[in-house]
Amino acid sequence: MSDARKQRAGEAAAGRVEAGMVIGLGTGSTAAWFVKALAARKLPDLRCVPTSEKTADLARELGLTLSTLDDTPRIDLTVDGTDEVGPGLALIKGGGAALLREKLVWEASARCIVIAEAAKVVKTLGAFPLPIEVVAFGHKTTGNRIADVLADHDIALPARLRQADRGIVRTDGGNVIYDATCGAIMDPVRLADDLKLITGVVEHGLFLDLADEAIIGKDDGVDLLTP
Ligand code: A5P
Repeated sequence: MSDARKQRAGEAAAGRVEAGMVIGLGTGSTAAWFVKALAARKLPDLRCVPTSEKTADLARELGLTLSTLDDTPRIDLTVDGTDEVGPGLALIKGGGAALLREKLVWEASARCIVIAEAAKVVKTLGAFPLPIEVVAFGHKTTGNRIADVLADHDIALPARLRQADRGIVRTDGGNVIYDATCGAIMDPVRLADDLKLITGVVEHGLFLDLADEAIIGKDDGVDLLTP
């Protein structure tokens, strides 16, 4: 993973921001470069809606003015990282467990720019395990239902409960994450629909038809991709 590539993408995205805008701030190491570059521009009258407590802490520390989705429900531009960028700018997100707040902010945004280093661009989504956010109550039962849906999509491996050194990972909203090792997601739209129908699934990391542009950081500059 190249930090320089992430930094290039983040800085290019910060160049798209204008004074007075409401900006959605993504989560993750690439989004952090954007937040730093944005703060360095010192644009007047910006209001920023963070997608995680971690991003909120960073933005606050750098002097950006924070708002909430409820106080500023119309966001001009959101810039966020991703785990995979597939054809048509279909994405897998949620490696940092912020997928629910991210999707809420993305869907409230007039424009969304995804930033990533070149290694994240794939021909078929699914090599990166698909994060699925699940209500903690009865999560094993929900996990079994997720396994049934995955099997229906010819994905043999059950999704795995995300654990860290300190135990089960909890999202900012107190939910848990199941990661589905899909290999290749042949029909992302149908999988997204089927996962959302499971009671107990709060959200999944498939971001389809949401990104307006991708800024891909390379060793010698950036590539711009559109759907
Ligand atoms: C956070 O939940 C994710 O959606 C991140 O945006 C994604 O995991 C990318 O993170 P990095 O920029 O750290 O690779």
